[in-house]
Amino acid sequence: MSSIGLDSDLHLAIIRHVLLLQTIGKGFNMDYSNVIDKLNDILQHEWTGVAQYSQAGFVVTGLWREVYAGLFHKNAEESYGHAKLIGDKIAALGGVPSVERNPVRQSQDVQELLEFGLEFESKAVELYNEALQLSQGDRALGVFLEDILKEEQDGVDEISKLVRDSQSGSAGQTASRAG
Ligand SMILES: [Fe+2]
Repeated sequence: MSSIGLDSDLHLAIIRHVLLLQTIGKGFNMDYSNVIDKLNDILQHEWTGVAQYSQAGFVVTGLWREVYAGLFHKNAEESYGHAKLIGDKIAALGGVPSVERNPVRQSQDVQELLEFGLEFESKAVELYNEALQLSQGDRALGVFLEDILKEEQDGVDEISKLVRDSQSGSAGQTASRAG
């Protein structure tokens, strides 16, 4: 009941509060170097998407242009949006965002362009899942990555359906022209 006891309770309470703040703010003081490396892998993948989908939007021709040019350009914009989020996050964590990208898959054939898109989205899902694994211990970072992961999975689902339709109709180019 002495004042010393009260002081030490107060002291303990302050220490707990500071530790709690550190936990919330910094994700258990975790080492972010592996996360930053993985986020840079993701950033390079997103830069690849910006170039690959843009080019697909440029080169698609004929009646398919009406159907797919907008989709490819929309996906390029989505990749840029993700790159922006990830680049900002890397900088916030103290890393240097990459300006590199991976080789771009190119084709003049719409079916192949869709397959490259599906391959790209599937790889994105894989990378975001890997980053999530590395982010355990930082809940906020996990939620941030999950939000993007969901959009990547939506991309896989959407393009999977397009590839399937395009294959089934792909004596297709003519079938689709007819209606
Ligand atoms: Fe993305």
